[in-house]
Amino acid sequence: MIRHVLDVAGLGAGALEEICALAGRDPAALGRPLAGRGAALIFEKPSNRTRHSTEMAVVQLGGHPVYTKGDEVGLDVREPVEDVARVLAGYHAVLAARVFDHRTLVRMADVSPVPVVNLLSDLAHPLQAVADILTMRREFGDLRERSVCWVGDYNNVARSLAEACALQGAALRFASPERHAADERELVRLLALGAASAEVYRDPVLAASGSCAVHTDTWTSMGQEAEAAARREEFAGFTVDEAVMAAALPDAVFMHCLPAHRGEEVAAAVIDGPSSRVVPQAHNRLHAARAVLAWSMGVR
Ligand code: CP
Ligand code: NVA
Repeated sequence: MIRHVLDVAGLGAGALEEICALAGRDPAALGRPLAGRGAALIFEKPSNRTRHSTEMAVVQLGGHPVYTKGDEVGLDVREPVEDVARVLAGYHAVLAARVFDHRTLVRMADVSPVPVVNLLSDLAHPLQAVADILTMRREFGDLRERSVCWVGDYNNVARSLAEACALQGAALRFASPERHAADERELVRLLALGAASAEVYRDPVLAASGSCAVHTDTWTSMGQEAEAAARREEFAGFTVDEAVMAAALPDAVFMHCLPAHRGEEVAAAVIDGPSSRVVPQAHNRLHAARAVLAWSMGVR
C-alpha cells in the first residue's frame, strides 16, 4: 500500500507513533531511502519553515528536492492535477504539495504510484502536528488525559493538532468565536478518534484552565486575506496574553506554528516570554519532515 500522508486522522494512532519514533532516531540510522531519487515540492502558497525543513529532510535522507511554485506548475490551469501527478511520479520518489484546496492532494493521491505528502492545505497541516506532538512530548511525555488548549481559529493547524492529540487520548479545550469554532460534529469526530474530552468555550481564560499547552495561530490564514479586517474584529478578545497563560498549569508552554502576529493572536510578552516554545517547535519541523518522508518510504 502506498503511504500517503494527507491528514493525521488518515494516519491513525499506530502510524503516528511510528513517525514519532522515527523522528527521535539519529538521522544516520534512517539510512538513505531517497538516495539517487527526487522529491517534488510544489507550493501554491508562501512558506518559510515547511520549504526549508522539507528540503533539508530530503537531503538528509539522501535525495534531491525540486521546488516549484504552484503557478509555475499550473495545477488545473496549465494541465490537470492528475497529469501533473502521473508525470512527476516518474521522476520522483515522493510528491509533496502545499495547496489551497485539500481535494487537489486527494486527486494527486488517487492517481500517484508514489506517496503524496500534504505540506498544508485548507483542511490540514500534518507535518506541523507531528512537530507539535514532538515538542509537547519533550516537555510532558505521554499526553494521555493531558489537557491541550487551542485559542482562536479552528483552522488547518488546529484540526491536525486536534486529531493528533485525540489519537493520543488527550483532553481538548478550544476557545473560538462561534463562526470559527469546531462544531458539534467535529467534536464527536475527535472523541471517536480517542480524545478524552473535547469542549468549546467562548472564553480563552476558561479554556486554558488546567492545560499543559496553549496553542494558537493567525486569525487570517493564507488565502483569506480579503477577510483580514473582519476577522480582526471577530477575534477580538481571543489573544493569548499573560492572563490566559496564568490560567493554564504553572509549567504550561505556549506554542504557535508561526508566522505569528504579536498584538493579535498572541501578546509579545507571551511569545517572547519564558513559557514560549515556538523556536524548538519550528526546529522540530525538520525532524517531523524527515520522519514522515522516511515513513512514507517504508523505513521502519
Ligand atoms: N508553520 C509553517 O508551516 O510555516 P511556513 O508557512 O513558513 O512553512
Ligand atoms: N493557518 C495558517 C498556517 C500557516 C503555517 C495558514 O494556513 O495560513
